[in-house]
Amino acid sequence: MKIRIKKAAIMFCVALFMGASLVNVGYAQKPSTLQTVVEDIHSYSNPQAVRVRHVDLDWNVLFDKKILQGTATLSFERTSNAPLILDTRDLQIAKIETSNNDKTYKPTEFKIGESDKILGAPLTIELPKGAKFVRIYYSTSQSASGLQWLEPQQTAGKNTPFMFSQAQAIHARSFIPLQDSPQVRVTYTARVRTPKDLLAVMSAEGNSQTDARGGDYKFKMTKAIPPYLIAIAVGDLQFRVLGNRTGVYAEPSVVEKSAREFGDTEKMVEATEKIYGAYRWNRYDLLVLPPSFPFGGMENPMLTFATPTILAGDKSLVSLVAHELAHSWSGNLVTNATWRDFWLNEGFTTYLERRIIEAVYGANRREMEATLGKRSLLEEMAGMETRDQILYVDLKGRDPDDGFTGVPYEKGALFLRWLEESFGREKFDKFVRGYFDSHAFQSITTETFVTYLQKNLLDANPNVVSRADVDEWIFKAALPKNAPSPQSGAFTKVEAQVQNYLSGKAAAKDIQTSAWTTQEWLHFLTKLPEDVGAEKMTELDKAFNLTKVGNSEIAFQWLLMSIKNKYSAADMRLEEFLVSIGRRKFVRPLFAELAKTSDGMKRACEIYAKSRAGYHPITQSSVDAIVKCN
Ligand code: BES
Ligand code: ZN
Repeated sequence: MKIRIKKAAIMFCVALFMGASLVNVGYAQKPSTLQTVVEDIHSYSNPQAVRVRHVDLDWNVLFDKKILQGTATLSFERTSNAPLILDTRDLQIAKIETSNNDKTYKPTEFKIGESDKILGAPLTIELPKGAKFVRIYYSTSQSASGLQWLEPQQTAGKNTPFMFSQAQAIHARSFIPLQDSPQVRVTYTARVRTPKDLLAVMSAEGNSQTDARGGDYKFKMTKAIPPYLIAIAVGDLQFRVLGNRTGVYAEPSVVEKSAREFGDTEKMVEATEKIYGAYRWNRYDLLVLPPSFPFGGMENPMLTFATPTILAGDKSLVSLVAHELAHSWSGNLVTNATWRDFWLNEGFTTYLERRIIEAVYGANRREMEATLGKRSLLEEMAGMETRDQILYVDLKGRDPDDGFTGVPYEKGALFLRWLEESFGREKFDKFVRGYFDSHAFQSITTETFVTYLQKNLLDANPNVVSRADVDEWIFKAALPKNAPSPQSGAFTKVEAQVQNYLSGKAAAKDIQTSAWTTQEWLHFLTKLPEDVGAEKMTELDKAFNLTKVGNSEIAFQWLLMSIKNKYSAADMRLEEFLVSIGRRKFVRPLFAELAKTSDGMKRACEIYAKSRAGYHPITQSSVDAIVKCN
């Protein structure tokens, strides 16, 4: 509490000090030290006074201790004599030094404040006059929320350990002491030492394309990025070329399969450039992680991190690649200033993702995916507090990871689709491209977006949509009445077959599925009544072998239905699925469904006892909140 008050006092003084100077320097144009900074309730840092510009990392990756150990050297600019305040979580700090010239360093005083469960602890560092660099000697803790350390048996190859980071939203602070707010963009360099037989890769230049190892790697990211995009992975990795500037890293046993699955990546980059302008990050590579990766994908710049659960064998789940690639414009180039503005990242990206899918795979596929997206949004919103149905979500007192719902994604995408439909594609595409160009490498708020929208779309094309309509989309709960409704002819046909089956007109084996894509299967399964019953599940399983299906999305849907309908023939598969996959999107709903009955909770406990150790801290904490065992 004390710390909070002190912080507020410092911020107040800084605000007074800045208020006077902002007017003089034309702050909106220049990315100078005096650039406006909005309040970020998820960071202790004080970029108004001291602003970090560059992070230089020197790490030893210690697999035996499961820690990163080394230094972070931060260069900064300052507008006052205030100390530097950084975000940290569970870091062991050995010493801190400062320097005026990056050559001679002298020890300085520092203090770690009280630790908050969500935010971690502020690290306050005294800065002597003239100091421009600070070097922090530190190590991470074994339970760093942003890192996962895997034993060899948790990898595909089973021979060597693996580690990876996941910094979004506020986990960078658990492996780097820095100003962990998305508006404090930094460049970074890194030197990483690993066991000799392993390869380190980062979200930067310097990723090796050869099989040469050696355990000493150097990286640099020359474009200013928000801290949540700093990423590292270390393991037995190989590289395959996909196209001119695209490729994939994966463990040797999955690298060929990955290269086939992602064979359209270069085409996707080209398709996106055609609509939204040049790809500005040089290379676009993918990294396929072990199955404990807690997300589907993460848009780390130059190197998207992806779950292996999208390796379906038929490219049917590559909208995830389109999505993470789209973040190279919406998210990495133009970034949400705070986690309240998260919908700017994910809504735009989901909208762009569908445009890429349309360009590469056609409008039918886009409409199927948009339909599935809207349906799941409506289902999720039905059980959601109204405050969470708002794009500009209030996260006061909450973990930004709580904002991770379908709302920023699907409601955001529907809003943009509604603008597209209202103004016409040509005008809207031009607007979005202009939005990216004019805010490139900036972190912006919802307010900045709305102002830009008003000027460049609404005012430029009067009487098409009203500001009140826009405000309803962004600041109110639920979906506006005029929300777009995607239409899929293919899905209409699937629905007819569902009806025939349920009414007894057609037997399970007569359902025509041979031409179905993954999306049609998903639509079919989700269109069956929730209480379809074990008898029908048995018929369907017999006809289509669904318990054995390899596609992770279909398997997930089938297993969810199996729990709801007490279809015990799928019990073993359920356990195997939950023990081998740690993707939170799958794991959490399955445990939540089990937890609804006391028998189910018992099974959940048995399974979780076997699976928990293999899950990432993010997945663990989500499931811990559901599975209560004695
Ligand atoms: N940036 C997100 C992942 C994320 C968001 C991680 C917030 C931590 C906090 C990423 O781009 C994403 O949206 N991934 C989705 C897949 C996508 C196809 C919807 C996921 O992982 O499910
Ligand atoms: Zn995303």
